[in-house]
Amino acid sequence: MAKVTQISTRKSDHIRINLEEDVRSKLTSGLERFRFIHQALPELNLEEVDLNLDLFGRRLKAPLLISSMTGGTEEARQINLTLAEAAQATGIAMGLGSQRAAIDHPELIPSFQVRQVAPDILLFANLGAVQLNYQYGLQECLRAVEMIEADALILHLNAVQEAVQPEGNTHFAGLIHKIEAVCKALPVPVIAKEVGWGFSERAARLLSDAGVAVIDIAGAGGTSWSQVEMHRSETESQRRLAAAFIDWGIPTADSIRMVHRTAPELTIFASGGIRSGVDIAKCIALGATMGGMASPFLKAAVKSLQNTIEVIHEIEREIRVCMFAAGAGNLEMLHQTDLIEVNPYA
Ligand SMILES: Cc1cc2nc3c(=O)[nH]c(=O)nc-3n(C[C@H](O)[C@H](O)[C@H](O)COP(=O)(O)O)c2cc1C
Repeated sequence: MAKVTQISTRKSDHIRINLEEDVRSKLTSGLERFRFIHQALPELNLEEVDLNLDLFGRRLKAPLLISSMTGGTEEARQINLTLAEAAQATGIAMGLGSQRAAIDHPELIPSFQVRQVAPDILLFANLGAVQLNYQYGLQECLRAVEMIEADALILHLNAVQEAVQPEGNTHFAGLIHKIEAVCKALPVPVIAKEVGWGFSERAARLLSDAGVAVIDIAGAGGTSWSQVEMHRSETESQRRLAAAFIDWGIPTADSIRMVHRTAPELTIFASGGIRSGVDIAKCIALGATMGGMASPFLKAAVKSLQNTIEVIHEIEREIRVCMFAAGAGNLEMLHQTDLIEVNPYA
């Protein structure tokens, strides 16, 4: 029971710190360096711009993902249900937070289950990849997928977050072989995801060779987990260690280009500091298939379901107008659209 209490405290801390503190990276996403070429004559009708996307057997009405966040407490259950209901109402995708708590403590499973309100959404399970070096294996991955009826499994990579915590799981050696084994045996696709520091070319190559279907960038420029951990630190020394990483990581725009260049066959989800539909459209033009956001959706969900749906509609509208004014009638055309890079190293 003490362990359950510890997990609940950590999950509540994460939500509270993300809502109350400034936990932004000192880096920007890099997307501000890119511009579309405006088309005065788009030769399109705005309402006919097609945002639909088919992925893993599900149809999305917009290329938008509510990034993995939470589970494990009553507050988290409410947030998950609000997010899932909004995703169902608007036809977008969603990831649940790390399910380790529910695997170790099955009484927490209901706080992750959302299919009762979101039967049709593209839904992702989530576990820390490093747990594969701490006695987790295929069975735990399968349980994570089955307990929430997910369409794919996200394995998140959070080396810096683990390294700046006193209780962190930092045995990352040999992990790629474990990830490869899961990719081979799991009946659903595996998505490798960062949590806010992005993927390099080297990481993309290893993960692509290991058989992941998707890389979810979660690059630098948005929520910084070293900053979150800094606010959880119990000693000055821990605090300073976490604070030293405020400008760590690969900005989202740069990471998308690195991964796309290295493994063009991989599907890319863009995330990390994405804050508008225009950002998402830029990411798709840079090589991504869809864009995800975490922090903005957390802030919307704690207000209300209505607010969350409005935020989603606003983002969708921005993507639509952006595609219209760039002359891209569908997502494939957006993918092929060139961007201008302004001030490459500003
Ligand atoms: C409250 C909160 C909890 C999170 N928990 C997880 C998690 O359990 N698993 C995971 O892969 N990412 C987790 N993340 C990271 C997000 O999915 C995302 O990659 C990161 O916050 C960057 O996106 P953003 O800048 O839009 O917030 C969490 C983020 C937030 C804000």
